[in-house]
Amino acid sequence: MKKIIITIDGWSSCGKSTLAKQLAKSLGYIYIDSGAMYRAITLYFLRNHIDWTDNYLVQSALQNIHISFVHNASTQLSDIHLNNEHVEYVIRDMVVAEKVSEVAAIESVRTFAVAQQQRMGNEKGIVMDGRDIGTTVFPNAELKFFMTADISIRVDRRYIEMKQKNPHVSIEEVRDNLQMRDEIDSTRKISPLRMAEDAILLDNSQLSMEDQLQFALNMATEKIKQL
Ligand code: DC
Repeated sequence: MKKIIITIDGWSSCGKSTLAKQLAKSLGYIYIDSGAMYRAITLYFLRNHIDWTDNYLVQSALQNIHISFVHNASTQLSDIHLNNEHVEYVIRDMVVAEKVSEVAAIESVRTFAVAQQQRMGNEKGIVMDGRDIGTTVFPNAELKFFMTADISIRVDRRYIEMKQKNPHVSIEEVRDNLQMRDEIDSTRKISPLRMAEDAILLDNSQLSMEDQLQFALNMATEKIKQL
């Protein structure tokens, strides 16, 4: 059976990774969280006190960064490793979330991450989520989704998720962070968040996870059949 590339872009916290994981599992594809790469780079910069407004320092720091995705047998997903350290959970901290959009707007950071993302798609059979996957990383992907949901719903979902890890987080903090990231991600100069012309718009404000998966799965099986 021929394999395709599926891209899922959209606003922060509208369930991109949930759908991407389910789709990948149903199709036997690899799931790659491209946002995790920007988060891992941000974590490295924070830990090593890299001044990311200095392009020279960014370029040399990137040479010391090795990002890999390692298969996790218990979840059947790939966990991100930064220089061989498992960082799948620590990159979700608010400290990283506060800075990641700034770091992801840097040209050399994007060139570095996009090159690796494109290599991972060489064999197809991949579902990748992010902000520029259907526009910049895989403009020729066979199937593209662009996800959105009402801001209040997105804030509630992210708040519940963050609260489990950090009981002190407030809903205002979560809302401010989402709005700030959406603003930076959609207005930056390089590869801003936008819907690819050939993407399918998926507003899941009123959609159950099951219905959403069924819809996306139907589209994917149609595409695969057409090959
Ligand atoms: O998907 P996420 O929330 O984990 O992504 C974290 C940040 O990384 C997000 O605010 C914007 C950036 N990002 C990006 O610029 N391009 C991508 N393809 C994925 C994420």
